[in-house]
Amino acid sequence: MKALISTAIACPSSFSSNSGGPFHRESASVRARFGCWSRKSGEVNGLPRPSVHMELQGQEGANISQSSNEDKARHDDIWGLFKEAQQNILYLNKQRQKALEELNRTNQEKELLLEKIAILEAKMQSGFVKDRLSFCWELLLRIDSMVLTGIISTNEASDMRRLLVERKVSGDDFPTDILQETDVKLLHELRNFLSGSKGNGFHIVHICTEMSPLVSVGSLASYVTGLSRALQRKGYLVEVILPKYGSLDLDEVQGLREIEAESYSYFNGQLHANRIWIGVAYGIGVTLIEPKDYASFFNREKVYGYSDDFERFTYFSRASLDYIVKAGKKPDVLHIHNWETAIVGPLFWDIFVKQGLGDTRILLTCHDFRQSLEQPDKLSLCGLDPARLHRPDRLQDNTNKLLINILKGGVVYSNKVIFLSSIHSKSRIIYGPNHGLEPTLDIHKDKLVVAPLGFDSSIWDPSKDRFLPKNYSVDDMKGKAVCKVALQQQLGLSDNGSSVLVGFIFCEVSDVDLESLKSLVRNTSSRGVQFIIMDLSKIPSANMSLGSFQEELKGDGVRFISRQDEASSHLVFAGSDIILCPSFHDPILQLPEKALKYGAAPVALSSNSMGFRHSIDHHAEATRFSQFISSTFENMSLNQALDEIRNNPSKWKQRIMEGMALDLSWDAECCDIHISAYTAIKDL
Ligand SMILES: *[C@@H]1O[C@H](CO)[C@@H](O)[C@H](O)[C@H]1NC(C)=O
Ligand SMILES: *[C@@H]1O[C@H](CO)[C@@H](O)[C@H](O)[C@H]1NC(C)=O
Ligand SMILES: *[C@@H]1O[C@H](CO)[C@@H](O)[C@H](O)[C@H]1NC(C)=O
Ligand SMILES: *[C@@H]1O[C@H](CO)[C@@H](O)[C@H](O)[C@H]1NC(C)=O
Ligand SMILES: *[C@@H]1O[C@H](CO)[C@@H](O)[C@H](O)[C@H]1NC(C)=O
Ligand SMILES: *[C@@H]1O[C@H](CO)[C@@H](O)[C@H](O)[C@H]1NC(C)=O
Repeated sequence: MKALISTAIACPSSFSSNSGGPFHRESASVRARFGCWSRKSGEVNGLPRPSVHMELQGQEGANISQSSNEDKARHDDIWGLFKEAQQNILYLNKQRQKALEELNRTNQEKELLLEKIAILEAKMQSGFVKDRLSFCWELLLRIDSMVLTGIISTNEASDMRRLLVERKVSGDDFPTDILQETDVKLLHELRNFLSGSKGNGFHIVHICTEMSPLVSVGSLASYVTGLSRALQRKGYLVEVILPKYGSLDLDEVQGLREIEAESYSYFNGQLHANRIWIGVAYGIGVTLIEPKDYASFFNREKVYGYSDDFERFTYFSRASLDYIVKAGKKPDVLHIHNWETAIVGPLFWDIFVKQGLGDTRILLTCHDFRQSLEQPDKLSLCGLDPARLHRPDRLQDNTNKLLINILKGGVVYSNKVIFLSSIHSKSRIIYGPNHGLEPTLDIHKDKLVVAPLGFDSSIWDPSKDRFLPKNYSVDDMKGKAVCKVALQQQLGLSDNGSSVLVGFIFCEVSDVDLESLKSLVRNTSSRGVQFIIMDLSKIPSANMSLGSFQEELKGDGVRFISRQDEASSHLVFAGSDIILCPSFHDPILQLPEKALKYGAAPVALSSNSMGFRHSIDHHAEATRFSQFISSTFENMSLNQALDEIRNNPSKWKQRIMEGMALDLSWDAECCDIHISAYTAIKDL
């Protein structure tokens, strides 16, 4: 920064000394004379010719009056010199003016630079405040690496971690640059800082295959990040272990570095080395495991979908546990996810619980019922005993008795199992879809819990949404009307206030019931309804059926938006009165949740697929979202919604306000249910 400023300030002098022009080609004498003149007159600018003449006459007066030839010649000579001098004056004035302007400009540039520096400094200051957690994480990860290199014992490391988190340490608690110190110096500082008091920090380690924004395929990614951040805000210590996929977005990891010591994990009869990388993403400590011998496991185009997925994720699960033990972590809960890391359950209870993890408990979250059926022998790859586990009450598949079922193993070997659904009840999940796990879930039903997915209210909240022309909230709805008009104007729709705006957003055209949508549009077109249909698919749809659909629906009240444009999708929620929803169980797009938050009614896309009627259980245990939906929009067709808007606007408004007031964020019900589950298993 300093260098930049001095360069800028240096500019004017280099400008004037280097500038060319007639002045520099003049002789020294002219310059000397000019110098004399300018000093004498004291005023260079705008010196008029007559007064110069007068002054000259005054000086040379006696000689001129003699009017001899000699005199005449001298007179001409003087006049010649004079003209020359005057031209030089004018020229120099111009140059001086230029130089002043240049100086002015440079000064202005300097001001701008100083302003920029001030802004940068302010940003850095606030960054430091935000980075408190990151600082704490840096320390925690340094402790991990100190255990691996044998500098401290696992017990001391455990105590240190708890204390650091309980005291919410920040950079202010330590000498500056402490993170640049060697391990030994850092350890010394830490020991000085932390006196011996012990506490009860709750420590959760996710072993998982996705985490936004590093690697995101489905709702698992946003769940791991959203829940972890909410838990950390409530004082929990949460960290995440992920495979180091070749495709990982490493720009999202702060302070990423490889720790010096290798970690070894058992697989297929021997130990294999892993490289371990640590860093921080969104304030959450992240550990990345990169297999050395099996480098190809995670250097692939996709995250899932290979014939050796069982081997890949089993290797990762075992390596995560080996690393946890080696780094001396003693988490309260190992949180595992879907079938991919469900094998951690049996691995933990059969092998690792005896390695100093006696106080750790296992929680499995199922986002779906994808299952992996394998030959029992394959269990020995990660050190498990097929004969012990291939049994009906353990991993044997309920249908295909010759095979083992990894997800079933996760359910059997976990202390709690959370099913994520905003809308389905527990009994619906156990007995509803035909997933083949019914007998297992029935036996273990006491440990099953249903939790809604949370919702990222830092991005999706109309009161602080930076994409809207005017913010609004349930307490001040004026902005909603502004957003509606803005959306209508953007799309060339009439904005006279009498039309109802219906939005529809989709990701995959193949998921959309185009026929229902078409009949809905046709059936309501006479009622002054405007439709906005937004295609969020990553690759712009080359789908013929969508093209002809657009062609058929082209009309005054229908608009299509097909671009990946965050601002537009926010405006569609904010500007719409109604959002059509293919389902109320929508973990990926969360259309119904976003609609409610933005003061739009989530209404079923098709009446016969009013899947909700069948999917919602009117059950005391239902989530807040499910309870609200079943008492409001569950049975409402688009036509009924339009009727209510026209005939009973105050009732409609009340429903909208109630929907907006629901807190569906990660910090609300989702986090509460997880905390109860963690607490319950800790007490087991
Ligand atoms: C320099 O800038 C100031 C204000 O920015 C202006 O008043 C002044 O006339 C400028 N001088 C020249 C020589 O351009
Ligand atoms: C809406 O709120 C956000 C966050 O506070 C702010 O950045 C943005 O400027 C606001 N929008 C308007 C139009 O005021
Ligand atoms: C508003 O526009 C709709 C068409 O979009 C039209 O049917 C209606 O008559 C208009 N109302 C007024 C008051 O102009
Ligand atoms: C296009 O969309 C229709 C309807 O959703 C679907 O049936 C069809 O398979 C899609 N075609 C292609 C080429 O994606
Ligand atoms: C069209 O709307 C009428 C009521 O206005 C309703 O009875 C009918 O079922 C609707 N048809 C479709 C296909 O939605
Ligand atoms: C919705 O419909 C179902 C059956 O179709 C009915 O049992 C339920 O009471 C209805 N809910 C509301 C809120 O009207």
